[in-house]
Amino acid sequence: GAEPTYDYIVVGGGTSGLVVANRLSENDDINVLVIEAGGSVYNNPNVTSTTGYGKAFGTAIDWAYKTVDQEYAGNYPQTVRAGKALGGTSTINGMVYLRAQSAQIDAWEEIGNKDWNWKNLFPYYRKGEHFQGTNYSWLEGSGVAYDPAFHGFDGPLKVGWSETQLNDGLAQKLNTTYPNMPVPVPYNIDPNGGKMIGYALYPKTVDSKLNIREDAARAYYYPYKARSNLHVWLNTNANKLTWKTGDEATADGVEVTLANGTTTVVKASREVILAAGALKSPVLLELSGVGNPDILSKYGIGTKVNLPTVGENLQDQMNNGLTYDAKTSYSNLADYVAYPSVTQLFSNATAVGAQLLSKLPAYAAQVASANGNVTKAADIERFFKIQWNLIFKSHIPVAEVLVEPSGTTMGTEYWGSVPFSRGNIHISSANPTAAATIDPKYFMLDFDLHAQIQAARFIRQLFKTEPFADMAGAETKPGFSTVAANANDQGWSSFIKNNFRSNFHPISTAAMMPKDIGGVVDSSLKVYGTSNIRIVDASVIPFQVCGHLQSTVYAIAERAADIIKGQI
Ligand code: FDA
Repeated sequence: GAEPTYDYIVVGGGTSGLVVANRLSENDDINVLVIEAGGSVYNNPNVTSTTGYGKAFGTAIDWAYKTVDQEYAGNYPQTVRAGKALGGTSTINGMVYLRAQSAQIDAWEEIGNKDWNWKNLFPYYRKGEHFQGTNYSWLEGSGVAYDPAFHGFDGPLKVGWSETQLNDGLAQKLNTTYPNMPVPVPYNIDPNGGKMIGYALYPKTVDSKLNIREDAARAYYYPYKARSNLHVWLNTNANKLTWKTGDEATADGVEVTLANGTTTVVKASREVILAAGALKSPVLLELSGVGNPDILSKYGIGTKVNLPTVGENLQDQMNNGLTYDAKTSYSNLADYVAYPSVTQLFSNATAVGAQLLSKLPAYAAQVASANGNVTKAADIERFFKIQWNLIFKSHIPVAEVLVEPSGTTMGTEYWGSVPFSRGNIHISSANPTAAATIDPKYFMLDFDLHAQIQAARFIRQLFKTEPFADMAGAETKPGFSTVAANANDQGWSSFIKNNFRSNFHPISTAAMMPKDIGGVVDSSLKVYGTSNIRIVDASVIPFQVCGHLQSTVYAIAERAADIIKGQI
């Protein structure tokens, strides 16, 4: 016909989408089109700078999704950032490369995703990775080390340390301080092998030699762009999927609005692969008639596939910070991570565990009733029990704590790793350019607040512990006049809820799970009820991970490509 046709259309040229497009187009006989709403940022200094975190925020390459007023967190909206560019969110993220605790990935299999476990995902973390090692003069004396067994050396994605990351002398100070905490926090030589607990000097997605950001486009697209079967349409918005006539739900293309404003259809002969991110892929499903009929009919969209859990199970983390005066001035923006377990975070972990366990049925009922029982309380309770086991039996990290010296400030950031609160995202209109209704329900369940408070106390303790205590002066945020030294939970609550932000780790809005417990895609990442639509981005991750998301997103996409190619 007149319309251009490709074998596969990948919707979203971001972190996951470019991996899949790259791997599919390794085969000359396969024609792949990537549709990307943003443009190229190859030469954008807000992207390439390794010290420019935050500079892209609020610019044209930031979707800056807005949530609804957060009912349990101060009644104001939050901004959830995401990259709008070839390379997606990997072009604006913090470049942290930290995976997950192995038991967390094993939990994906426990809920019915056959063969999705740490053992099977681990080779895909390594497949994508081009680990650059520690052989740089500016790393001398930093104490950085790694376990080569955990890394890949032949993949496209450069991972390593950057020049500006560690040369401020703090690495060793923290290393000798964390073991002096009330419950000692040990040094972890390499947290990327599935065991994350401890203090670590972690790598980033950087080109160590050139000292520039490594993003998905730089790794997986630009070196391969000469492939005649790999096509990218930039500044092109995917509006919705189009369907082949007939009873079966088979996508035959995508309606797009081109850079010049023209709306047209592009055809896919094999599959449409959604990689538009956790806050867009479920929206595209709903705009295409896949979702909850009650929601679709409100906006005049006919139901093609009745799948009410599309957009449910949204999970994010909450990010707070404490700030201190630094006793010397730091020229670099460095950061140092610690991952405490529940026993390192709570002195009364056993009692905390017992109390939390008794609350899980009520938590589950609250999540289910908040979404009209689209997800069932019994299923949510089972997920929460798995999460409880991860925290109290497998001892996954329960918080992440970052120390970040910059100028005369000793900043910190922290978040509870595995909040229980779950919200949702749904369309608010049939118009593909309308903003969706995003409601993460931050702080809906009180354990999430407890974890956030306890991490703040952990940081106060760190700043009292020698030898690191000598490096910092007064606490300036919140400061003891705002939150007293011995403040109880009530005393911390309003500071935390009025100063947090999204941790920008939204997941699970098209969760990979069996359909009867709320899944949107099966373990081959195919959308239930359709014959040829897959989702390969952060939407499919069923449980929050303790690392940062990108490494796991890259690994899932690598595995997805093998699934689509029929190699698994
Ligand atoms: P991603 O957002 O990468 O890709 C989606 C793509 O689809 C985008 O390019 C988008 O423009 C495009 N798109 C959307 N709608 C479209 C439409 N209708 N038509 C066409 N294209 C469309 N993780 C980490 O590991 N370490 C870190 O340090 C950080 N730090 C961090 C900071 C900030 C500010 C953010 C926002 C996020 C992080 N993260 C992070 C998270 C991590 O970067 C993120 O989870 C992944 O990059 C998400 O990858 P996806 O492929 O799911 O979506």
